[in-house]
Amino acid sequence: LRDTQKIVLPPTADMHVHLRQGEMMKLVTPSIRRGGVDTVFVMPNLQPPIRTVERALEYKSELQSIEPNVTYLMSLYFHAELTPEIVTQAAKARLAGIKVYPQGVTTNSDAGVVSLDGFDDIFEAMQQHDLVLNLHGEVVGNPAKGLTHEEAFLPTLKSIHAKFPKLRIVLEHCSTAAAIDAVRSCGPSVGATITAHHLYLTGDMSNVDPHAFCKPIPKTPEDRDALLKAATSGDSKFFFGTDSAPHPLASKSAQGKAPPAGVFTQPYATQLVLRAFEDATERGIIAESDVTQEKLEGFFNKFGRGFYKLPDNTANGPKIILERKGEKIPTSIQGEGLEVGISRSGDEVFSLRWE
Ligand code: NCD
Ligand code: DOR
Ligand code: ZN
Ligand code: ZN
Repeated sequence: LRDTQKIVLPPTADMHVHLRQGEMMKLVTPSIRRGGVDTVFVMPNLQPPIRTVERALEYKSELQSIEPNVTYLMSLYFHAELTPEIVTQAAKARLAGIKVYPQGVTTNSDAGVVSLDGFDDIFEAMQQHDLVLNLHGEVVGNPAKGLTHEEAFLPTLKSIHAKFPKLRIVLEHCSTAAAIDAVRSCGPSVGATITAHHLYLTGDMSNVDPHAFCKPIPKTPEDRDALLKAATSGDSKFFFGTDSAPHPLASKSAQGKAPPAGVFTQPYATQLVLRAFEDATERGIIAESDVTQEKLEGFFNKFGRGFYKLPDNTANGPKIILERKGEKIPTSIQGEGLEVGISRSGDEVFSLRWE
């Protein structure tokens, strides 16, 4: 990769983004295409969360009016009052999924659920209407000794899959080798997103740098390397979703307070993954020959689009062109009274343009 000067790819599909609302939405939504992305799966953890089909469609049109040249896949927030009727409506309105937030675990998760027991009627309706279940896979409360919050969640993934084998499930933002194995052990209805930042962060970094702090917390170097291998394996179960999660710089750097969880990568989404792959080849974790055109197209575009049953757009249509020009990631992006720090600022990445 180090000797590669130019890469041409179909547009990236980013199957996990936080675009927020208000001024933050106006600031980050235009940065989607800078990262080489033309299709996004939009998370519903707004304030208040998106719980109705009507609100999801209204949010979609707000996003479209800011940046019309992006396809927005919309989601609902899984909550205790969700009904099979709402699931039916969501499917009719062509929403793409319903996202589970474990209560109190991450940003705007207070309205989430403590456990996934007792929702079989919802899962049944989702399976019947072919709506995707998106899981933030971490347990609420303390995991059994020696397990991370994500590892302790994996039996829940397996049991929902065993009961509803046709229900499409995405284990979002995998952060452990165990999660990769669990997803592999499930049938083809189960996939997983891998973020950019979990390909280069580890827990010791995330726990000291507010800009690297996110949920799930990045884990060990071995876990990170398992994610790098999965992302370059050519296995269609693993596809890209940045989980780009902007927070105001002021809240990230507030003294004496725990920073909010979230790493902002949107304007360099594709570029940051390529940088992580490049670093991994230099460390000998993946071979140069693992980073083929076909595997890049799979991870960035075909596998995610395929999972969400979107048409193949790789043959004809626009391309993104990545070239080495010595570009360095800036510190932040700035809007109306708002600044958001970008992950890996100062690091060199490919320059990206659209063709
Ligand atoms: C974290 C924890 O338990 O919060 N564990 C760790 O850093 N060893 C990771 C996690 O969220 O599971
Ligand atoms: O780090 C995270 N930030 N993880 C999440 O699950 C949510 C996200 C956010 O919304 O800020
Ligand atoms: Zn999440
Ligand atoms: Zn997220």
